[in-house]
Amino acid sequence: MTDVGIDAIEIHAGKLKLDLPGTFAPAKGEDPEKYTKGLGLHASSLPDVYEDIVTMGANAARKLMDRKGLEPADIGRIDVATESAFDNSKPVSTYIAGCLEQVYEGDFRHANKGERKFACVAGTQAIDDAYNWIRAGRNRGRAALVVATDTALYARGDAGEATQGAGAVAMLIDEDPSLVSLSTEQGYGSMDETDFLKPNQQFPSVDGKRSVQVYLARMREALTDYESVATDTHPDDFVMVPFHTPFPGMVRKAALLGYRHMIRDTEIEEALADEIGRQPRPEAFEDDESYLDAIAEYTDKLKGTDRYREWYARSIDPTLELARHVGNWYTGSVHVARASGLKHALENDLDITGKQLLVASYGSGAQAEVHSETVQPDWEEEIAGLDIDDQLAARRDITFEEYETVHDVHNHDEETDVDPFTSPEAEFVFDGWGRMGERQYRYVE
Ligand code: CAA
Repeated sequence: MTDVGIDAIEIHAGKLKLDLPGTFAPAKGEDPEKYTKGLGLHASSLPDVYEDIVTMGANAARKLMDRKGLEPADIGRIDVATESAFDNSKPVSTYIAGCLEQVYEGDFRHANKGERKFACVAGTQAIDDAYNWIRAGRNRGRAALVVATDTALYARGDAGEATQGAGAVAMLIDEDPSLVSLSTEQGYGSMDETDFLKPNQQFPSVDGKRSVQVYLARMREALTDYESVATDTHPDDFVMVPFHTPFPGMVRKAALLGYRHMIRDTEIEEALADEIGRQPRPEAFEDDESYLDAIAEYTDKLKGTDRYREWYARSIDPTLELARHVGNWYTGSVHVARASGLKHALENDLDITGKQLLVASYGSGAQAEVHSETVQPDWEEEIAGLDIDDQLAARRDITFEEYETVHDVHNHDEETDVDPFTSPEAEFVFDGWGRMGERQYRYVE
């Protein structure tokens, strides 16, 4: 069976930077270390006045098509994953295709376009759809373009405001991919939850603390489900484990529970037994409460072991490097985590061809998905093509007052007339409203 997976990836970050410890925390009267140490965040990427989910998605897609030398005729499917859509009928992929048609000679009339919604896991679901379409032989030799794009903004004053972000990830899904191939095996943990939702409103209603617990619970189910179709997982099986990263502190919690699960009944649990004991088993306790106390105590000790710290530094920390500087990109977040890990591997000259990634996606509401990926021989060339460091360095660092203005500009209930903070160059920009209330776009040379 031919491999199917991610052939190429491009990332486009919002052009403004909100410094969380330096600008946001002082304005909120908070300790900067809540951000740097607690949440693990240094900055959020935010959209300038002329940016939105369409411009960011189209700019990422254009860069990808140019770098890979693609024309519209090469792409048979465009799926956009977003939880920031502004149109309940016309999918964002049509707007993005419209942008791309302004700069390419051909058009996308032949391409099946859609929009995927399940909070942040929708980006991974859109990849699934593309994978299945190719595997079913319906692609007529064409590749699929998947764009995960979001302006992850919370209402002013919401606790989630600390974890905002904006950006897009474009991915080309194809046979014989250059970057990673996807496993057929997948695991799911899915349940009707009311932790984070946007019932016909722009900014989410969030029960933040509960959302953290729901993330952990669904992730645990997805991992167990994955093991039921693949095989038991072991920390040494995977060179890196990219997680959905609403903020790095969330992944710190999830990774510890995942590691504890993976080492149960292995030589690692055995090797650590002298230092921290063996993992408590529920059957050895009279009630749930005493078991939960014991497992919490064990987990706390596990976190402090050299063995765990080394694994975390090698397999998790590299996947968080970009998230620390861009915040949460919702549907794009796990794909930023994968790119971040691979970028770290390239910069550190790690030989990871043929190695496995365990990819852990999550969307509120809620669903987790776990699958594995195999790093392909051409991964270095693909990752070397990313210019995300330059984009991050070029961002305009905004003051708190400017942040308030930017938030208003992107608030659908506010009327604003604000000059951009940066000058667009060789990119798509928002260009006002059309006669039917549609958003319009143009390419700026
Ligand atoms: N020094 C060091 N650490 C500090 C600190 C300081 N001065 N002050 C606080 N901290 C630590 C806290 O101890 C806490 O860490 P632990 O959870 O490990 O204890 C962390 O910093 C955050 O502090 P708080 O819990 O006090 O922060 P908060 O009350 O402002 O809320 C939040 C945090 C609930 C995550 C909030 O940001 C939020 O609602 N975010 C949006 C929802 C979200 O991202 N949920 C994640 C799971 S859902 C999901 O993944 C989908 C999605 O993308 C939204």
